[in-house]
Amino acid sequence: MKLPRFSSLYGRIFAVFWLTLLLVVLILLLLPNLDPRTQHTIPQPQQERFQESAASISSQISHDGGSLERKLSRFTDDKRHKGFQLYFTTTDGDVISPRRNSKALRNFITMADSPSHPKQKLYGRWMMAGPFEVRHKDDTLLMYIGRIVREPPPFFIQILDKPFQLLLLTMLVSTPLLLWLAWAISLPARRLQNAAERVAKGEFEADPKLESGSKEFKQAGASFNQMVQAINHMIGGQQRLLSDISHELRSPLTRLRMATALAKRKQGESNELTRIDTEAERLETMIGELLELSRMQVNSHEQREQTDAASLWYDMLEDARFEAEQCGKALSYTTLEEWPLHGNPNLLISALENVVRNAIKYGDDKITIRFTTQAMRLCITVEDNGEGVPDNELGDIFRPFYRVSTARDRSSGGTGLGLAITESAIRQHSGTIKASRSKLGGLKVSITLPLSK
Ligand SMILES: Nc1ncnc2c1ncn2[C@@H]1O[C@H](COP(=O)(O)OP(=O)(O)OP(=O)(O)O)[C@@H](O)[C@H]1O
Ligand SMILES: [Mg+2]
Repeated sequence: MKLPRFSSLYGRIFAVFWLTLLLVVLILLLLPNLDPRTQHTIPQPQQERFQESAASISSQISHDGGSLERKLSRFTDDKRHKGFQLYFTTTDGDVISPRRNSKALRNFITMADSPSHPKQKLYGRWMMAGPFEVRHKDDTLLMYIGRIVREPPPFFIQILDKPFQLLLLTMLVSTPLLLWLAWAISLPARRLQNAAERVAKGEFEADPKLESGSKEFKQAGASFNQMVQAINHMIGGQQRLLSDISHELRSPLTRLRMATALAKRKQGESNELTRIDTEAERLETMIGELLELSRMQVNSHEQREQTDAASLWYDMLEDARFEAEQCGKALSYTTLEEWPLHGNPNLLISALENVVRNAIKYGDDKITIRFTTQAMRLCITVEDNGEGVPDNELGDIFRPFYRVSTARDRSSGGTGLGLAITESAIRQHSGTIKASRSKLGGLKVSITLPLSK
């Protein structure tokens, strides 16, 4: 048979199983020796004392005159009330004295008849011991001793006699063992779960601890780490590509704008040249934002820190309130407390700022921002009383460059990257973002973020 290696999970369970089995077998083998109700040898000091008594009785009856039975009756006169009784038999097992004897004695005599190997056994409360040799002239007699055991039977005997309590004790003893086993077996699974949660939060970092423990989990951990590294590599590559493209596009754009400026100077203003310039400017802004977005994503993990809601957003909200006032709009927000958050401060600030700025831009004259906490999550809602977004486009506004059909024609609109940046930032911080219709008539954006411990 090929034995499983102990480094594997299967092997460990196998080992624990066999150890437990061995323990049970050992206990079962030992039990009969410990149970006083089964026949077993007498402890040495006690055996010596009994043998001394047998010798002294031998010398007393050898000197005295009279019949043997009468002589013996001196020792066997009913002393049961004192919790002690001697019995004498012939070597053939016939009881000589006392006349009245018990079932226990008769049973014991048939089992213990060799004075060279005296035994003892418990019958109810009576402990029978013997036989011990007593000499009477040329005859040999056997002496048995019965005495009451006053101390209560050992704990395990009491338990063995009560199956329900035995079951309870077994459960009591085995529960911590099983709990430990369950804990030890699930430890690597929990590590893997924590690592998966970290990845879900956007932390693509390999964890060397995953590659320890039993063989199965070691392999799973190694595969997991490989996957994380591969994803990390892929994301990094993509982000770098985006960042490089944006960067590279900037130089020809700048040259284009310089060329239009030169053309304007040579040929004077024309509608076409102005149009080229405006579009080039728009492209430049877009590329600038794109560059900003990719820069944020590339380094977002390295710049995570412990902060709180108030220090993140208070200044931004005050600025926004001032800006809204300038446009004749009223912006109000509920109290901002120091709820703990863990993340990249710049990303978190611009995430909310983009939503608030949209509300100011697209709202008519009223913007409300509400902060609440619920079950270790911070919930933020931003509402305005503008036109809102058609229901069938609510899910699309988080896509990069997406602009609602009515806004597309508006010359005043932005690039359509603001909400994409917000969505990406919130997702990287294990949060959620959702757009819906506000009771005020405009758009309602609801954000939730996990609070850190
Ligand atoms: N509060 C709002 N009310 C109505 N429409 C909105 C609101 N917020 C966003 N939108 C719509 O969603 C689109 C996408 O918003 P997003 O913030 O991504 O881009 P943007 O505001 O147009 O440009 P920018 O990149 O400068 O923010 C907007 O063009 C607009 O049509
Ligand atoms: Mg915007």
